[in-house]
Amino acid sequence: TTNHLRHLESMATHPSGAGKIPRLNAVILGESLASEEDDLVFPSHDFSQQAHVPSPQKYLEMYNRSIVDPGGFWSDIAAEFYWKEKWGQQVYSENLDVTKGNIKIEWFKGGITNICYNCLDKNIESGNGDKVALHWEGNEPDVDGSLTYRQLFERVCQLANFLKDNGVKKDDTVIIYLPMLMELPITMLACARIGAVHSVVFAGYSAESLLQRIMDCKPKIVVTCNAVKRGKKVLNLKEIVDAALSESSQNGISVDSCLTYENESAMKKEDTKWQKGRDIWWQDVVPKYPTTCDVVWVDAEDPLFLLYTSGSTGKPKGVLHTTGGYMIYTATTFKYAFDYKESDIYWCTADCGWITGHSYVTYGPLLNGATVILYEGVPNYPDSGRCWEIVDKYKVTIFYTAPTLVRSLMRDGNEYVTRYSRKSLRVLGSVGEPINPSAWRWFFNVVGDSRCPISDTWWQTETGGFMITPLPGAWPQKPGSATFPFFGVEPVIVDEKGKEIEGECSGYLCVKSSWPGAFRTLYGDHDRYETTYFKPFPGYYFSGDGCSRDKNGYHWLTGRVDDVINVSGHRIGTAEVESALVSHPQCAEAAVVGVEHEVKGQGIYAFVTLVEGVPYTEDLRKSLVLVVRNQIGAFAAPDRIHWAPSLPKTRSGKIMRRILRKIASRQLDELGDISTLADPSVVDQLIALAHS
Ligand code: WT7
Repeated sequence: TTNHLRHLESMATHPSGAGKIPRLNAVILGESLASEEDDLVFPSHDFSQQAHVPSPQKYLEMYNRSIVDPGGFWSDIAAEFYWKEKWGQQVYSENLDVTKGNIKIEWFKGGITNICYNCLDKNIESGNGDKVALHWEGNEPDVDGSLTYRQLFERVCQLANFLKDNGVKKDDTVIIYLPMLMELPITMLACARIGAVHSVVFAGYSAESLLQRIMDCKPKIVVTCNAVKRGKKVLNLKEIVDAALSESSQNGISVDSCLTYENESAMKKEDTKWQKGRDIWWQDVVPKYPTTCDVVWVDAEDPLFLLYTSGSTGKPKGVLHTTGGYMIYTATTFKYAFDYKESDIYWCTADCGWITGHSYVTYGPLLNGATVILYEGVPNYPDSGRCWEIVDKYKVTIFYTAPTLVRSLMRDGNEYVTRYSRKSLRVLGSVGEPINPSAWRWFFNVVGDSRCPISDTWWQTETGGFMITPLPGAWPQKPGSATFPFFGVEPVIVDEKGKEIEGECSGYLCVKSSWPGAFRTLYGDHDRYETTYFKPFPGYYFSGDGCSRDKNGYHWLTGRVDDVINVSGHRIGTAEVESALVSHPQCAEAAVVGVEHEVKGQGIYAFVTLVEGVPYTEDLRKSLVLVVRNQIGAFAAPDRIHWAPSLPKTRSGKIMRRILRKIASRQLDELGDISTLADPSVVDQLIALAHS
């Protein structure tokens, strides 16, 4: 405790930096920190001393500047990167207020750069060519490989040359449907090198979902592999791509080529279905190309990638990120939130099919010249100790994962963890959903031996990078709280009417003014962009999350307030699942809600009514689940199907989800007012069926 006290004292005696942001002062300078009721976890004195941001004062100093002078703050950082030409007079320009015209966000406009150049060429030039960029760990424990920065550069250039040769030009779209092979970041970087826009589709999405994305962004080329092994299961990815491509060409969108990597350990060439003229084996052609390739210089505001995410309608949203701001933001957030140092070995368990894999497997770490682990398999194969085996094998120092993984390994028992040393670890991270304090504690005490701070990073596909996150050496953490805003981010909590609320409060989490990593539009649908994110609370970006702020100014995320469910950190729109269910010929209506789930955070609970005269059977239940797996992907399969003779509706025909949520989570004494229902007896019927 001596260290803790020293820490506390030094915090309390430094009035510097306070002032501009009154609500932060409470925690950093206030008496309440000492209060016994607060569950505060302090970084060790040694950790803080070596950290980039070693104290609340240092944070406040930097944070204040980032808010008072965003242009100056971010252009100083941007100057550390390579720009072919510097940006114009104005570092950024923005309008986040729908009442004042179109929403517009621009950073470093007029600046000419290339993110692939900054990830690779720049690191090689600064003497890191022989440093390992990627360590790849296969599904089987004895299958692995690695690439230095120079080798990665050569692979990326070869593929970039192939893409150019196959007609891919600046601003063309490339769909990437690959598992966690090195070829996945290689393809992303190759696209970036020639100014093409990548759109990675998570290789757990179904053919139907892939088709939807192909139809929306009309890629020049699709890059995939024949199959992947995840644990003991072999997934035939090429078959899924084939189905999507043949369907899309029947709908008038034909993709010229399908570049296919032979993932030998999962499936041999000979066993792969092939369409001559369209399909190309990666290994046959790509290695023949030259190992250098000129970069295509792009404007900071030229598009870098599209990534589809779920919203409250059935149609996925193509989140568009541009180059310059995203580059500066992912690099900077990575450096500070993980207190990254050159000697770190970094492992993020996310798949590159999600935003976490874009910003914090690929771009953020490589921009910092980091050594990154890519893992092809699942966390419990061959057994639940696999993660810690990998940590020891590569001497991982920063380990970034999701609460769902923490909870599932926690359930499997401590022996799987304590069997391994883990002494290389120094920083842990969490992302995807709120981490419950008991999982936080287990992660901290058992995995990190009570030594490693946890960065609980709150952010979204839309935000590009971390928004609210601990800086691990700077202040004490509270298990379950994402703590304070990153530099340049002004989170506000608003009430129903969009009025900002101060102090201890809870409400809707919004952001005031832009940050460099913000998304610029929804692909092909700027109206939906404005309607979804900027109209609900004019003047602010609305996150879709609920949030409370405690007396010390710490932020506590409370989950989505819209029709989005968060299953194991994957965002799924209730409308998407409903539309899959009603596409089943025997399903008349569906209403989907999220329920608490011990491991996944939220589970999917689906109420269905059937076509007149159809009996509800076990076979029908299975085929309803299957239709969701086929249309979205296995990760979206409902946990529970609840047959309903009819659904609770208002007299105007609107389904009352509030009531369904209560029934699904068995909170029957909290049903609220049901008198506005067209037929209140429906509720009793459903409750009776829930127990059967
Ligand atoms: C939604 C965004 C950002 C990468 C992974 C998911 C939830 C994310 C946290 C966190 C509480 C979190 C939010 C957010 N979320 N991180 N640390 N604490 N909630 O990206 O698919 O865009 O989902 O995930 O609800 O809105 P995404």
